[in-house]
Amino acid sequence: MPSLQNYHSFHLQAEAQQLETFHDVPSALSLCRQYPQHYLLGEGSNTVFIENYDGAVLLNRITGIEVSNSDTAVSLRVGAGENWHNLVTTALAQGWHGMENLALIPGAVGASPIQNIGAYGLEVADFITSVEMVELATGLTQVLNNAECQFGYRDSIFKQALLGKVIITHVNFCLPKTYSLNTRYGELKALENPTAQSIYNEVIRVRRAKLPDPDVAGNAGSFFKNPVISATAFSKLQARYPEVPHYPVADDNVKIPAAWLIDQAGYKGKQVGKVKCHITQPLVLTNLGQATGSDVVLLAREIMDTVNTRFNVALEPEVRLVGKEGLVNL
Ligand code: FAD
Ligand code: EPU
Repeated sequence: MPSLQNYHSFHLQAEAQQLETFHDVPSALSLCRQYPQHYLLGEGSNTVFIENYDGAVLLNRITGIEVSNSDTAVSLRVGAGENWHNLVTTALAQGWHGMENLALIPGAVGASPIQNIGAYGLEVADFITSVEMVELATGLTQVLNNAECQFGYRDSIFKQALLGKVIITHVNFCLPKTYSLNTRYGELKALENPTAQSIYNEVIRVRRAKLPDPDVAGNAGSFFKNPVISATAFSKLQARYPEVPHYPVADDNVKIPAAWLIDQAGYKGKQVGKVKCHITQPLVLTNLGQATGSDVVLLAREIMDTVNTRFNVALEPEVRLVGKEGLVNL
């Protein structure tokens, strides 16, 4: 059976029944129909195969970037199998600005709308005009505009109502020619006379300093989402922990950094089996080599339980855990 170890960035040892690649829409559809039990995979940087998967893993490699220019904007139609960071780098080199804050996020373009990737003050939803997809049930191509994608923090319709029902084939982006650089987040505030290039360089520098390289220590980025809690729940938390970092978000809710909760709960640097809570960013769990899926599940559950008991805040995994039969909830 084919190994999945090099097809997901956590690099756990796991196998699939079949591993197939598609390069165009008809072959994508025909493989999905040939293997009703399948898992679509881009670059596996948000997927953790915690045991052998009893189905076919289908690798999306639809490539191609089409460019159209108007007086006011550059529009890009990008194949779902293109690499995200290469797209950002290509755009910057062409003088098409905006996406530089999202540099070095691993993964394929087709996965970018699924959890609405975000970093350093921006989300991919800020640039997406529409997403092209094929419906598995009908074989029909559909196009969802930005509003129809129902983007939220690490969320979209593709993780909700359309989960498992579509193949994303292309993503359409619009980069306005008049654009103000975004330096509002953390370390970017300190940039003097920022340019798109200096933002790109700084984002890459900070990310390399904080986040472990998956090829050195397998990981899937943030293991949990930053919890969003109500204003009432936040007042109670702040009464007990006045120093708690927090950010206001929509509907009077408050976002708390999960890294802070995990750090305060004493998990930074803690290890279960061969899985470790990363020392410079405790929101990331890493594979020290030969880790098993049960090490991952044990440490993740322990962190969730401890944070819940201590702070009365529920952590929700950001990563997709895949077991024998498909997606697994913790
Ligand atoms: P995969 O893991 O291959 O797939 C993710 C999900 O999408 C799966 O459920 C899969 O079935 C589904 N899927 C994939 N392609 C398709 C398709 N064509 N059609 C339908 N369904 C599909 N994320 C952020 O938002 N911000 C960050 O700053 C960030 N930093 C990271 C840093 C590191 C070191 C790592 C390892 C990850 C980080 N991530 C971050 C998470 C990850 O980069 C994103 O979630 C990325 O979009 C995943 O892309 P992928 O192709 O690897 O997805
Ligand atoms: N913190 C601690 N202890 C630590 C590290 C951080 O308490 O050891 C606290 C600090 O208060 C810090 C805060 O956590 O200010 C936030 O840390 P950071 O700026 O590193 O960002 P994050 O909220 O942990 C989020 C995303 C990242 C994204 C960065 C930058 C989520 C779940 N994670 O991390 O995305 O790159 O912001 O924008 O929203 C990913 O999704 O995989 C991912 C890496």
